[in-house]
Amino acid sequence: MTGRGGSVCKALVRYFIMKNNPLPRLDTSPTLRERLLPHCRLKAGEIWQDPQGKHRVGCLDAIDAKMVAALVGAATPTLAIQDPPYNLIAFERRSIDEYIEWSRQWVRITHAVLAKNASLYVWLGADQNDGFQPLADFMVMMRTEPFAPRSFLTMRNQRGYGTQKNWMAVRQELLYYTKGNPGFNIEAEYTDIPKILRGYYKEVNGLVTENLERGKSNTIRAGNVWVDIQQVFYRMEENVSGCYAQKPLKSVERIIRASSNKNDVIVDWFAHSGSTLLAAEILDRRCFTADIDPVFCEITIRRMEQYRRTGRLGWQNGHPFEKEVPEFLQESSDKQILPSRTPISQPTLFG
Ligand SMILES: C[S@@+](CC[C@H](N)C(=O)[O-])C[C@H]1O[C@@H](n2cnc3c(N)ncnc32)[C@H](O)[C@@H]1O
Repeated sequence: MTGRGGSVCKALVRYFIMKNNPLPRLDTSPTLRERLLPHCRLKAGEIWQDPQGKHRVGCLDAIDAKMVAALVGAATPTLAIQDPPYNLIAFERRSIDEYIEWSRQWVRITHAVLAKNASLYVWLGADQNDGFQPLADFMVMMRTEPFAPRSFLTMRNQRGYGTQKNWMAVRQELLYYTKGNPGFNIEAEYTDIPKILRGYYKEVNGLVTENLERGKSNTIRAGNVWVDIQQVFYRMEENVSGCYAQKPLKSVERIIRASSNKNDVIVDWFAHSGSTLLAAEILDRRCFTADIDPVFCEITIRRMEQYRRTGRLGWQNGHPFEKEVPEFLQESSDKQILPSRTPISQPTLFG
């Protein structure tokens, strides 16, 4: 094609090439990571302060008590949402004992900075091929820590992994603990799913009532098995390509609504795609979050900045470094760098 039509056509092609250029998983693409590092505003040990004075992002190790204390300052957070790397991913297979000792350290640091009455949620997986670690070991370890166990939640994934000879693994586990006696906002516990079960009668104060009459809402409670939350994948607006363990905003928002109030401070030492920070921004809370990796700190900050600018929740069909890395070619030493779509941005094992 020639003339004006031709250049419009080329511009469109360029637009779609850029838009169809999501990042591959950053944990398996060291060369790409190196390219992104110079564009990250934080180095190890630095803390980003939100110009609006609400949030903070620290580039730090979750078990560095001094750095965490510097991040939190004089605040008294009422909620911690922690989504640590699971054993295999975190340490190229450290022993389970080492992993649990490491977990104990960040749990204690979390306890030290939380308010007298506060909640702790921990996302953690169970490897069914290896003694259900680290979830089982973590639960046992927590029995000797000063948090009270409250609930063991399960979020159902739409896609899972499995063989023809086992139940397909479609769950993500979430543990809920409390320190002191924090509140719980029951309204957050209701889903959008209408109640359809009728005919469950019960006598209340001498009156026989049907279950729909008894309920506070026409929709069902979420309970501790969440079936109404879509797993993040590349077609969703909230998708952040490059991230491999992104939690759905709806799940984080449910936790925040249930266990915090407006203007409260929420902490999260494992920011990654910044879902906790973004949910806090949306729900008028403050978030002090961290990641050991400057690239994930940068993604976390950019995601929130983009939301403030445009109202968008992520980079469906694009990525956070579109300006700096508008395209990237496969490099022989780094086979994961493919300019193709990542089919799904969820962790492959049990995250
Ligand atoms: C499972 S992801 C968190 C996902 C996050 N909840 C989300 O929705 O995007 C774990 C993150 O922890 C970070 N991380 C690993 N070890 C860390 C450490 N010692 N201190 C702080 N962050 C760490 C990793 O870089 C990774 O981004």
